[in-house]
Amino acid sequence: QQDTSLEFIASNIDILGTLLPEQLLKPQVGIVCGSGLSTLAASFRERVEVPYSSLKGFGTSTVPGHKSALAFGLLGPADGVPVVAMLGRFHAYEGHSLSTVVYPVRVMARLGVKNLIITNAAGSLDPGLPVGTIVSIRDHLALPNLTGFNPLLGPAKPQYPRFLPLSTAYSHSLRRALFHAAHQLALPASAVGEGTYAWVSGPTYESPAEGRFLRAAGASVVGMSTVPEVLAAREEGVEVCVLSLVTNFVVIPDRYRSVREEVDAELAGTPLPPSPQVEVSHEEVLAIGKEKSEVMRALVEKTIELIGKG
Ligand code: HPA
Repeated sequence: QQDTSLEFIASNIDILGTLLPEQLLKPQVGIVCGSGLSTLAASFRERVEVPYSSLKGFGTSTVPGHKSALAFGLLGPADGVPVVAMLGRFHAYEGHSLSTVVYPVRVMARLGVKNLIITNAAGSLDPGLPVGTIVSIRDHLALPNLTGFNPLLGPAKPQYPRFLPLSTAYSHSLRRALFHAAHQLALPASAVGEGTYAWVSGPTYESPAEGRFLRAAGASVVGMSTVPEVLAAREEGVEVCVLSLVTNFVVIPDRYRSVREEVDAELAGTPLPPSPQVEVSHEEVLAIGKEKSEVMRALVEKTIELIGKG
């Protein structure tokens, strides 16, 4: 179990005090970089990277496409907004406890982060959200949370609400800022959609029946991250904006090909045309991340500019 005591977290603030110039020490906005999206921090000014290994309580990200460092810097016009980005996040499927997964969010909150922009790669369950679409998340469906795998399980702590409401988890004002940013960047309407994120534990991609189940339950996209961080951020009183980049369609055939018919037809000398076999791969996920990372970066930066220092 991760030590999330205020004292332990505060020890990181002391370490960072020795590594960062004064102007970077109190970031206002946090960014979590999803798979293939570490370039979100590429244009930070006065950028300083601090490896997780030089901090206390951070795990190491083991997923290809993820680094393991916090990047500090300034974004936006004039003297800029101090920001911090997680280059590489932790997932439960890597064997990390959920308290390790959400720990960096708690550190960012204690450093002063008021608004957190979380990005991820996700599979689409909605034909209206094709590959390459950026989806502004407005709600989530988290089967693990409903079935006893919730990062906030544990004894009550005086500094946190016991029963955290989630009806306003995805900040309306940040989502407004995001769509204003999309307009200012003249992105076509189809580039940024809205939807509900289903959190699954992974590491397996969904079976077709699971994909259909999640779609029927109201999810638009599905992924293996983000919801734990959202819960911790909300517990810490941080406003949250989530952007999912659709990297693939979840394979959901509406009807299964009958293998009996296939074999019977073959034996009758009238074979059916081969049925397509589709599989999603992590390489595909990373490639789309790379292709779209510039748009993502522009959108995140413009949104932060619109949020300002507030
Ligand atoms: N399913 C779950 N997680 C994902 C997917 C997917 O199809 N694509 C990227 N992350």
